[in-house]
Amino acid sequence: MTLTYIANEWRPPVTSLVDRKVIVVGGSSGIGLGVAEAALNSGAKVVIVGRSHEKLQAAERALNAGNRVTSLVADMTDEAGVARLFDKVGAFDHLVSTAGTLPPGDPIERADMEAVRRFVDNKLIGAVMLAKHAVRTLRADGSMTFTSGINKDKPPVPGGSVVAAIADSFSYFARALALELGPMRVNVVSPGWVDTPMWDIVGEAKSGFFADMAARLPSRKIPTAADVAAAYLYLMESDFTTGETIRIDGGHNLI
Ligand SMILES: NC(=O)c1ccc[n+]([C@@H]2O[C@H](COP(=O)([O-])OP(=O)(O)OC[C@H]3O[C@@H](n4cnc5c(N)ncnc54)[C@H](OP(=O)(O)O)[C@@H]3O)[C@@H](O)[C@H]2O)c1
Repeated sequence: MTLTYIANEWRPPVTSLVDRKVIVVGGSSGIGLGVAEAALNSGAKVVIVGRSHEKLQAAERALNAGNRVTSLVADMTDEAGVARLFDKVGAFDHLVSTAGTLPPGDPIERADMEAVRRFVDNKLIGAVMLAKHAVRTLRADGSMTFTSGINKDKPPVPGGSVVAAIADSFSYFARALALELGPMRVNVVSPGWVDTPMWDIVGEAKSGFFADMAARLPSRKIPTAADVAAAYLYLMESDFTTGETIRIDGGHNLI
């Protein structure tokens, strides 16, 4: 008996990132910066995107990858800016978006509707605009990966309803887009707590929060951006994974 995959010179269903062009929206900080570094280490050319020119310049210096990394200023809440971004980059292979801001956290009876709208605009409408304009120049064997998070599984109480709704909506967004855009692939990464500048807001309390959470997690640690970047790399490289949400949360959703 001849196994067909041997007869057909089977190769693993993995797309190398060498010389692939990867756009990381949110690549100037935190998880996105970790993804940019991991993609560069895998041989990709990376374009990092954010609103602050200064943060992008600092990130480019930190990545220290010569002309394999470039940066572009764009705000994903501004459709004209998003359109210009993809016009400037031209044909590319993978879009990753980790962009996001702190969610509103008021109990529902005190919800600040302007803050809620700003958050939805930045996180969900922004992702829709990225997808709308990315499809014009994303190669057919490429992928889009968006970011949700543990707040959909374990919403903060009280005050977690808006962030939970938006975070979980990404799974359905990716499933529908995967059907609509195939063979392009569309996926989501759902991190647990990650040690990034987003946590600077809690100041010195951070180390105590992290120690308490690490003790409760099955993984017994709070990850760095580099730790969770592995999930984004997998989703870019695996050419048979689409419409999927991957949790990388150290087991947080289980506790
Ligand atoms: N860190 C965690 O514990 C954690 C856990 C679960 C989920 N998440 C989610 O993961 C995502 C990334 O978090 P992070 O910790 O990496 O945050 P971060 O360090 O604050 O990085 C956020 C990045 O997004 C960019 N950004 C924000 N709004 C943007 C916009 N409108 N247009 C373009 N770029 C924008 C920021 O740059 P500019 O400010 O210069 O625009 C920055 O590069 C967030 O959506 C967050 O909710 C984080």
